[in-house]
Amino acid sequence: MAESHLLVEREPGLLTLRLNRAEKKNALTRDLYARLAEALQQAAEDSSVRAVLLTGGEQCFTSGNDVADFLQAPPTGQDSEVFLFMRALFEFPKPIVAAVSGPAVGIGTTLLLHCDLVYVSRCAALRMPFVNLGLCPEFGSSLILPRLLGQVRAAELLLLGEGFSGEQAAAWGIVNAVLEDGAATLNKAREVALAFTRLPPAAVADSKRLLRAPERERLRQVIEEEGALFTKRLHSPEAREALMAFMQRRTPNFAA
Ligand code: COA
Repeated sequence: MAESHLLVEREPGLLTLRLNRAEKKNALTRDLYARLAEALQQAAEDSSVRAVLLTGGEQCFTSGNDVADFLQAPPTGQDSEVFLFMRALFEFPKPIVAAVSGPAVGIGTTLLLHCDLVYVSRCAALRMPFVNLGLCPEFGSSLILPRLLGQVRAAELLLLGEGFSGEQAAAWGIVNAVLEDGAATLNKAREVALAFTRLPPAAVADSKRLLRAPERERLRQVIEEEGALFTKRLHSPEAREALMAFMQRRTPNFAA
């Protein structure tokens, strides 16, 4: 991968991970996942890092998993790069703050459910079109979203694959706040992430663990079940048709 697809910026106490593949709307490749996983694993061990800020560009957070990768080299199981990244995020012991501007598609929305604080811009467009792609919910979203939103609203997002705005996400408690534009969103998220660098780190880590403890084991189980099904569904005729259709810029045909 070109080194520049993930920009890693360090300042005292804060590590910023910035997706930087604008030409493909920050689609996440296997290499990009691997780099993200490695950066988080190192940050977890590094006592000079007190918080992580995860962001994309001002026009796009991420368009989700790289569709060409899904077709050519789909994840095969728990050792695949996407699982390594999401496990590193799920297990990350320090605060992670996300700044989201523009589209956050697929895993781009799912991963926000595992960040501690999320700020979005007015132009944020979130969507989990897994069913539309012949796939299924991933990384705990089938447990987390019905609990947060109720079954019927979760069905709109996960069974119909409907998109939603930053305002809706804030009203539903998925994100903390909506800011005017990408720059304001990044500033706010950075300010919050920097606040963690001034707080006592062990108390923050204990508190994060407590906040996330109640559903932890059930969530691990669900993530494993979803992962097995998702990996299997990637090879289904439905998913192949939907992914090919995206690449060929045509409407998928599920009639057969
Ligand atoms: N994987 C691979 N390439 C992607 C991509 C993805 N997830 N998302 C966008 N791209 C590529 C497009 O193929 C296009 O490449 P090209 O210029 O070589 O043809 C380029 O990025 C620009 O995308 P485009 O769709 O033309 O931009 P847009 O501004 O019209 O729309 C999005 C942006 C993000 C709304 C749209 O690309 C999209 O919905 N992508 C999501 C794909 C998806 O379903 N992801 C979930 C996978 S689980």
